Amino acid sequence: MVADLDAWRRERQAAVERALDAWVTSDTPAALGEAMRYAVLDGGKRLRPLLVLASSEVLGGNRAAAMRAACAVELIHAYSLVHDDMPCMDDDVLRRGKPTVHVRFGQAQALLAGDALQALAFELLTPDDGSVPDAMAAHLCRLLARAAGAGGMAGGQAIDLASVGVALDQPSLEAMHRLKTGALLQASVLMGAATAQTGAAEVAALADYGACIGLAFQVVDDVLDVTADSQTLGKTAGKDAAADKPTYVSLMGLDAAQAYADEMIGRAHRALDGSGLPSPGLLHGLADWVGRRSH
Ligand code: IPE
Ligand code: IPE
Ligand code: MG
Ligand code: MG
Ligand code: MG
Repeated sequence: MVADLDAWRRERQAAVERALDAWVTSDTPAALGEAMRYAVLDGGKRLRPLLVLASSEVLGGNRAAAMRAACAVELIHAYSLVHDDMPCMDDDVLRRGKPTVHVRFGQAQALLAGDALQALAFELLTPDDGSVPDAMAAHLCRLLARAAGAGGMAGGQAIDLASVGVALDQPSLEAMHRLKTGALLQASVLMGAATAQTGAAEVAALADYGACIGLAFQVVDDVLDVTADSQTLGKTAGKDAAADKPTYVSLMGLDAAQAYADEMIGRAHRALDGSGLPSPGLLHGLADWVGRRSH
């Protein structure tokens, strides 16, 4: 185990913040960068970047590539939140304790900020200064594109919108959660691994770990929507029931949903135990953080 995961987390969160601040500039036409920076900086738990960095560090990966990958996945996540909050999707006015991007900047600028953040993510992964070898950059792009697209986050969001008022059974709900949220978390772990020389068995174990924490993360999101308040969450609580969304809480009730998340976290730990990785302590620690988070 890691002696002080909280200290590691704070240090890496600060490093990610500095990198995002440098890479997401306001040097753009028509103040688009202002909306992009508003969407990305000063907020969020930075779980996805932490997963990239932890996985890379556990495997002794390329540090410069890992920081680019960490920021790239956070940019995709931030873009997904901007669009998720728009009136045509979840119609939310509060995110990360601030008015949502479309409330602050208007819908057209929010749409474009999301588009531009997505493009910037892939630009970060393909620098022309030689800091990320070409084959590694291609691998990172492939992992991120697959997780963000129709077979991942965007596809899961499409199922989410098509499921309003529909009582999904557990396999269908699980499939939706694995895509809309799980895919990007799993990709974070695998992108960290892609910055190092990683054997096939280790990659398979990390894929299993990433899938388990990815599903657990969205189940906990469903739970917190019911149990936490808006101030703690930094977003409007109680939205899922109000919008008649199928969730793990609507399917099985609060206690069973939390128990299911705990079970998934247990599976994530076991995947690491069987991975053959010599020191996966950071990844064990982050799994526990996902399971017991309060916001
Ligand atoms: C919220 O993600 C959206 C989901 C995928 C459930 P996070 O809970 O990671 O949001 P931030 O980044 O901390 O704001
Ligand atoms: C969003 O799921 C998942 C994304 C891909 C953004 P939710 O709609 O439940 O996320 P929150 O609760 O608004 O953060
Ligand atoms: Mg949503
Ligand atoms: Mg939402
Ligand atoms: Mg939610």
